[in-house]
Amino acid sequence: MNKQILRWLTIVLPVILLAIVLVVTDLIVFGEIHYLEIIISVVLIAIGAVVFSNWVFAQLDAREFEIRKRAAQLEALNLSGLSLITELDLGVVLQKVVDLSRELVSARYGALGVLNDQATGYQQFITSGITKEQRAEIGAPPQGRGLFRYLIDEGKPLIVEDISKHEHSYGFPENHPVMRSMIAVPIKNKGKVIGNLYLTEKIDPWNPHSDELLKFDEEDLRILELFATQSAIAIENARLYRHVQQLAVLEERQRFGMDLHDGVIQSIYAVGLMLESIAHQVDRQPELAKQGIEDSIESLNTAIRDIRNYILDLRPQHFQGRNIVQGVEELARALRANTFMDVYVEITDVDSDAIGPEKTVEVLHIAQEALQNIQKHAQASEVSIALRSQNGNLMLEILDNGISIKPQQLRRSLGNGLMNMQERASSLNGEIIIGPKLEGGTEVRLTIPLQDQ
Ligand SMILES: Nc1ncnc2c1ncn2[C@@H]1O[C@H](COP(=O)(O)OP(=O)(O)OP(=O)(O)O)[C@@H](O)[C@H]1O
Ligand SMILES: [Mg+2]
Repeated sequence: MNKQILRWLTIVLPVILLAIVLVVTDLIVFGEIHYLEIIISVVLIAIGAVVFSNWVFAQLDAREFEIRKRAAQLEALNLSGLSLITELDLGVVLQKVVDLSRELVSARYGALGVLNDQATGYQQFITSGITKEQRAEIGAPPQGRGLFRYLIDEGKPLIVEDISKHEHSYGFPENHPVMRSMIAVPIKNKGKVIGNLYLTEKIDPWNPHSDELLKFDEEDLRILELFATQSAIAIENARLYRHVQQLAVLEERQRFGMDLHDGVIQSIYAVGLMLESIAHQVDRQPELAKQGIEDSIESLNTAIRDIRNYILDLRPQHFQGRNIVQGVEELARALRANTFMDVYVEITDVDSDAIGPEKTVEVLHIAQEALQNIQKHAQASEVSIALRSQNGNLMLEILDNGISIKPQQLRRSLGNGLMNMQERASSLNGEIIIGPKLEGGTEVRLTIPLQDQ
């Protein structure tokens, strides 16, 4: 029923009822109707009913207004929470937290102080409600003295009616806008305060330009505390996201280093070796040396092309398009051609098609580094390479009969090769064992699961 009709009914109904009662009593008791008395009574009751109804409805209106206001606040809280969780950029999240909290409690100004790790002061101070120019005029952000110090130490919510009269107040810096009332809540993550949210000067949201200020109340505090909980989650989320991004950059750098070491640096190293042997041939076998120089130039051109391609799509071109069996055989052939070692290859039960291109490239890089190391460090006369599938795993074994690798070289190597091998093996969820053999020489044993996990 319409409120206006209800209001009239609360006045009209008692009046009609009273009139009927009076008429009936008059008729029964006196046998006649005393009009004048009845009219006076009815008028008095009508006045009473109007006053009472006005009072009751004023109360109801006030309550309804209050409920609407709270519903709007809760709705705003909900929207603020939603808009926070969709944001991942830490800077944006922090600014949003202040802006939204200001709207939630209708504060003219807002600030968010982010505590430093030791919780001794603020490492960041984000404001809302003042212009950049105003902010610049105020100067350095608060150093955590006075009321700020008090709030940092207490870590509890607070309502202050007049900041200048608070016992811990330190006064405002020059050019700071006048602020009287304040409400502040801590933002906590896992029980630890990570920052404080300050809102000052509560304005009438229905009359924002009025100079008359309202008071912050317990309800504002409750809403702000709920919002602070949501803010803490959003801030933590954004921090984690930033951390993950930094890790990704780091990982990518490591990847670049690895690809360069295992790819183009190896090719250039080989050219170096080739030129070294040419130096010995120049006088005695000039024709052979000339051929060697041409081969070296060819190799350098290939290396340049590789670098170009790598820059173009940042993927190692080396070994691209080979299957694993061809790749291993090619490496063995190159080793035979470049050294005097006997190279034995044994490939059993390997289905190249079952091993994806990325896995293939990684395994071939590991094999290449193991063979490079033998060439550079082992002084071996024999190398055996075995590749086989066994129990759902792919196994690669590379053994030499040279001088054994030493434990301290394994632990702390100046080169990158061993580290890259380990790195590549674990990226394939596999395992690699590198170590001296009992009978002398070095062994490299790689095991990776054939199925992706
Ligand atoms: N097959 C091997 N036989 C003997 N010593 C080895 C063998 N493989 C590695 N080493 C020793 O382990 C060290 C570390 O190898 P690693 O591949 O990490 O570095 P590097 O080959 O010296 O340099 P880079 O690979 O960065 O060009 C080598 O310097 C070498 O002393
Ligand atoms: Mg090496």
